[in-house]
Amino acid sequence: MIVNCPQILSMVMSKTYNEYKGRSVLITGGLGFIGSNLARALIKLGDVEVSIIDSLMPGQGGNLFNVDDIKGRITLHKADMGVDWVINHLVGGVDYIFNLAGNVSHLDSMLYPQGDLEQNCAAQLTLLQACRNFNPHVKIVFTSTRQVYGKPVYLPVDEQHRVAPLDINGIHKLAAENYHLLYHRLYGIRAVCLRLTNTYGPRQLLCHNRQGFLPWFVRQALAGDEIELFGEGRQRRDLNYVDDVVEALLLAGASEVAEGEIFNLGGEAPVSLSEVAQELISLTGRGAVRCVPFPPERQLIDIGNCYSNYRKIEAMLGWRPRTSLRTGLALTVEFYERNRAHYWEPNANTLSESRTAARGG
Ligand SMILES: NC(=O)c1ccc[n+]([C@@H]2O[C@H](COP(=O)([O-])OP(=O)(O)OC[C@H]3O[C@@H](n4cnc5c(N)ncnc54)[C@H](O)[C@@H]3O)[C@@H](O)[C@H]2O)c1
Repeated sequence: MIVNCPQILSMVMSKTYNEYKGRSVLITGGLGFIGSNLARALIKLGDVEVSIIDSLMPGQGGNLFNVDDIKGRITLHKADMGVDWVINHLVGGVDYIFNLAGNVSHLDSMLYPQGDLEQNCAAQLTLLQACRNFNPHVKIVFTSTRQVYGKPVYLPVDEQHRVAPLDINGIHKLAAENYHLLYHRLYGIRAVCLRLTNTYGPRQLLCHNRQGFLPWFVRQALAGDEIELFGEGRQRRDLNYVDDVVEALLLAGASEVAEGEIFNLGGEAPVSLSEVAQELISLTGRGAVRCVPFPPERQLIDIGNCYSNYRKIEAMLGWRPRTSLRTGLALTVEFYERNRAHYWEPNANTLSESRTAARGG
């Protein structure tokens, strides 16, 4: 089924949304960027019980402000998913788990490989073991990354492309995908893996530049700084606005045919990093571009041009990106203009409030 008509797509989405009514959903990493946008979408549906587990890992995107407007309507567990007695207690009776907890930074994975192993492999196994023992038929949607393909040998990369990650994070995410699929095959856990591309939008970490280029470009443009392009910024990438990713997560969660499958997400058209920077400068009316040599530690793990073919998820689940880059960037810029104070400094909303984060927010 190829869905390219907006009316059919909204019918598919409203059927999907009905699947969640009266159900209970656990989001791991739900104080982070994508998880908090997903929590908000589920709350908007109404009649969905949403719980979050998040350890507010320093240096990552967890931020209590991300759920500030829905805090009375979610159950928040500030805890590490990798602790078995915690997660054992949380998975029972849940209908869906959106498993987003993990380290996103490829650069950090090279600096702290053991930390990445803990979060992206060991904690994933702890969650899967908990499901095997206490909720073996739960549906789990796992967010992987297109980084597992490494440097592409053809473009756009589809799910048949060979996997050859160039960094520790890619290796661990690939292992975690395989854990999910193994637990599906052997124990009946209804797992599905999505390989995300660069995702951007409101509620993303902006306070350092180790979680992807786009949030950092947004910050530099808003601050009226020079956006630094490594090389000449000619690398071509595809981007997804976070609402489109949330739609894909919901579709994958609600669909039986998705179980045991891996799906790429992808953007409408590849765009160079320099074009993204120019778009931000034009939107904000601020900032400038400066080309700088590639820092060696980034050059080592750079995948060059990379963008994904998303035809499989389009054909099987009816997903396609719907937000244009211009619209998505405008919404993003507008969000940070309004909420700058909560994102500019490291963990602006985690340090003071983390002690009070508990059940009921
Ligand atoms: N953002 C992207 O562009 C992108 C691209 C590809 C894949 N992904 C994947 O999507 C997922 C979500 O990414 P994001 O951008 O929202 O990241 P994020 O850093 O904003 O959120 C991740 C959250 O997970 C939490 N966390 C980490 N380890 C945990 C643990 N053991 N227990 C409990 N909480 C834990 C962190 O505190 C953080 O709040 C990640 O798995 C990431 O690998 C993201």
